[in-house]
Amino acid sequence: MSHAHDDLIAQDIEQYLARHERKELLRFITCGSVDDGKSTLIGRLLFDSKMLFEDQLAAIERDSKKWGTQADGIDLALLVDGLAAEREQGITIDVAYRFFATDRRKFIVADTPGHEQYTRNMVTGASTADAAILLIDARRGVLTQTRRHGFLAHLLGIRHIVLAINKMDLVGFSEETYREIVAEFKAFAEMIGIQAFTAIPVSALKGDNVIEPSGNMDWYTGPTLLELLELVEVDTTRLLRAPFRLPVQWVNRPNAEFRGFCGSIVSGAIATGERIRVLPSGRESRVERIVTAEGDLPQAQAGQSVTLTLSDEVDISRGAVIAAADAPPETADQFEARIVWMQDDPLFPGRNYLFKAGTSTVVGTVTAIKYQVNVNTLEHLAAEKLELNGIGVCNISLDRAIAFDPYDANREMGSFILIDRLTHQTCGAGMLNFALRRSHNIHQQHVDVDKASRAVLKGHRAGLVWFTGLSGSGKSTVANLVEKRLHGLGVHTYLLDGDNVRHGLNRDLGFTEADRVENIRRVAEVGKLMVDAGLIVLTAFISPFRSERRLARELLAEGEFIEVFMNTPLDVAEQRDPKGLYKKARRGELKNFTGIDSPYEPPEHAEITLDTSRMPPEEAADRVLATLRQLGFIR
Ligand code: ADX
Repeated sequence: MSHAHDDLIAQDIEQYLARHERKELLRFITCGSVDDGKSTLIGRLLFDSKMLFEDQLAAIERDSKKWGTQADGIDLALLVDGLAAEREQGITIDVAYRFFATDRRKFIVADTPGHEQYTRNMVTGASTADAAILLIDARRGVLTQTRRHGFLAHLLGIRHIVLAINKMDLVGFSEETYREIVAEFKAFAEMIGIQAFTAIPVSALKGDNVIEPSGNMDWYTGPTLLELLELVEVDTTRLLRAPFRLPVQWVNRPNAEFRGFCGSIVSGAIATGERIRVLPSGRESRVERIVTAEGDLPQAQAGQSVTLTLSDEVDISRGAVIAAADAPPETADQFEARIVWMQDDPLFPGRNYLFKAGTSTVVGTVTAIKYQVNVNTLEHLAAEKLELNGIGVCNISLDRAIAFDPYDANREMGSFILIDRLTHQTCGAGMLNFALRRSHNIHQQHVDVDKASRAVLKGHRAGLVWFTGLSGSGKSTVANLVEKRLHGLGVHTYLLDGDNVRHGLNRDLGFTEADRVENIRRVAEVGKLMVDAGLIVLTAFISPFRSERRLARELLAEGEFIEVFMNTPLDVAEQRDPKGLYKKARRGELKNFTGIDSPYEPPEHAEITLDTSRMPPEEAADRVLATLRQLGFIR
């Protein structure tokens, strides 16, 4: 590493990068916290190797295109897409990709500053990593966090695990301490099926065994950390060996003659004339041209961004996958998956999330948490929700079928992120295990008598009038009045009321967040059936969460859902206290009471808002009827 070298960097980064282009690339992540010395270690690797580093994601993205022509390829795509989405919404990126190189190799390290205890950062950097460095503070040994990171690294399919036992200077460079920690981690590694890992005693602060061998630990004869990073085997052909997959990002149709399908090849290779299959439709065709900005290519491979034209007119849109005809991925809408949860607000089965897999984004839900994993004991625990940092095996159900490969066969085609529909934040990451065949042989049965024909018979439109608001806000009272008036007008109605439904259909549910999500999901499904039967359905449930009210809205056709917000101030509802429940809750005898120690999320765009502290129930009912008339439900 000469000065001429440094000057070259300063003069011309492009030229420098070009010189490094043919070097093998190793991507790794570091797991641990500031306390463990993570930043010090990365700083030392970057500084002592006196090489170029850039923390600009943009720069790496640009470089990755350049390296894309190599067998190794780069696919930061999936998770970087998630990050890009966050960036657009003005949310800080918490992963910085740093680049450095030695004479042997170039490196990208996903550095995750900030709230280090969050696995979120780790998972974000890990989907493409070849190696993971787990940092341990020699004074503290193997912690829950170490186990969690080790488990995650293994789950994510990272093959090289390096245990950097740091701060050896603070334990007097004790071989015994080192051996104890290695033994403890080894026991854990064997339990989870990590076949091999390498341990190195280091002092990131003093530099022992980071770049240069330490003079303080003669008992250690293995490689230094940098030597190890230069040596670990990178599986450069992994992506090439996998069958051809190109998730379509967009369709380029400048004129009637040209129809090109654009995207990055995530695995395998393709040549003109080869047979392809489009998923999920299953249509077959042949590749006519492989178009790039630099002109047509005879063939292309993993890592390259290309536009394909096909020899047949095939209907393809964003989210479809173009694949090798004889080795296509599966398609399914129900899966078993491993999910890592990354936000404070827990994951609840039944709640809707966006699932982003490759280039398709689909609404879906976790139908069941089969079990959660205790990362210390690896026990499988029953769970009704996944909390921050929780790892679970879940069943998921998507609104639409997607093309996929199991994660263990193809990381790029088998991973997904979960996005919160209200905040648009990435809230989880997952790996698809396999498709569930549950809905495989169940087809929608066509019926001849439909909603429209029933409406004609009844002489009114069907719809769902959804009352929401605090306990004591008057939902049941007003809904009851509205039903009486509708009935008087000859309208077929049905009122689903919280207190009643909870005695029957939902008698197994309480008032935890998870149970309320399920309560509303069932009510929404029942409401939908009754609307289909041609009724005007009224529901009176607190339904405190926006997510589930939205789910109900989306189950119905456009214009069929009328949200009525009982906007009664808490103090008024509390004063009314018709069932004495507020008093109980205030005394601490009733837990999770809405408005007291459980949240209520008011609607943002309700069709009708009523403040029952300012109007008698009769007037409130009049307003609802007027709106129903106005919207054409009744005459
Ligand atoms: S929801 O939140 O899941 O929509 P739902 O409307 O079905 O609630 O039930 C609310 C009714 O249950 C209240 O009117 C009240 O009578 C009773 N209840 C009992 N415990 C609670 C509680 N912890 N929070 C709210 N309501 C409760």
